[in-house]
Amino acid sequence: MHPIIRTLGRKIPVRLRRRISAPLDAVRFFKTYLGRQTATILPILLATGETHNFTYDLTEKNLRYLAETIAVVTGKAPTDIAGYIDEAIGDSALKRHFETAMRTVGDQPLRNLRSPFGRRLGWYAIVRAIKPKVIVETGVERGHGALLLCAALLRNAAENEPGRYFGTDINPKAGRLLSGEYASAGKILYGDSITSLKALDETIDLFINDSDHSADYEYEEFKVIAPKLSAKAIVLGDNAHVTDKLALFSRESGKRFVFFQEEPKNHWYPGAGIGISFP
Ligand SMILES: C[S@@+](CC[C@H](N)C(=O)[O-])C[C@H]1O[C@@H](n2cnc3c(N)ncnc32)[C@H](O)[C@@H]1O
Repeated sequence: MHPIIRTLGRKIPVRLRRRISAPLDAVRFFKTYLGRQTATILPILLATGETHNFTYDLTEKNLRYLAETIAVVTGKAPTDIAGYIDEAIGDSALKRHFETAMRTVGDQPLRNLRSPFGRRLGWYAIVRAIKPKVIVETGVERGHGALLLCAALLRNAAENEPGRYFGTDINPKAGRLLSGEYASAGKILYGDSITSLKALDETIDLFINDSDHSADYEYEEFKVIAPKLSAKAIVLGDNAHVTDKLALFSRESGKRFVFFQEEPKNHWYPGAGIGISFP
């Protein structure tokens, strides 16, 4: 029984007590779950200035689940995958590059950003685990994914397993973070993604869909790259928390599909995820 009703006690008839208590209990229940989230909206907005493509860390539990998921997908040991994730989180040169680029490039001043990578740490771990020769990411925006993917490629190259990154974006200003040594690992193809993908003459080992998020466009991208995928290719969807097109494509291609749900730490955003289609 709700505490208020308990306090009023016998002043209210029993049947009425039960009827009033139920909705009050429901409100208390929803507040427990949503109150924590909503309380952080304004402080985070004031601290960061971010209105979309939010930056946040993942919870410890979520990082562990991420490592376990990527281990299943790549067939590697979970400890190795967790090591790759730690490698990215602890990369001080990468962190410095991100902070400098966000401060000095572009026209949108953002401040006090947290981890720029969130679920993309899983993308990084996949690159380190499967050593792709060619990565394609559609939709670059600031370049959070591009930067992290190229950082993984540079590490692979240092281990004599080089690879190339291709990003596509319709916005000619996209990719502000992909600069310095990281830009040496790849390039951005400006223009409509489907057009760029059709023109791309490469065999793709890792494909990431993150451009126009309409379900039809997403599915069209998968159909265009299907004949360009290598036998061991992994396809990731950054929109799989919204549409089931990657799961559909995966089944049509005879691949397996799993979905990793992201859990941001100390942030109101409920998180996106990684759709993963793998051989
Ligand atoms: C969600 S953002 C990409 C985020 C990025 N992958 C990251 O890791 O932060 C989506 C991007 O897709 C681009 N985009 C939207 N429609 C597109 C299209 N038809 N062709 C190419 N890029 C497109 C937008 O300009 C935007 O930069």
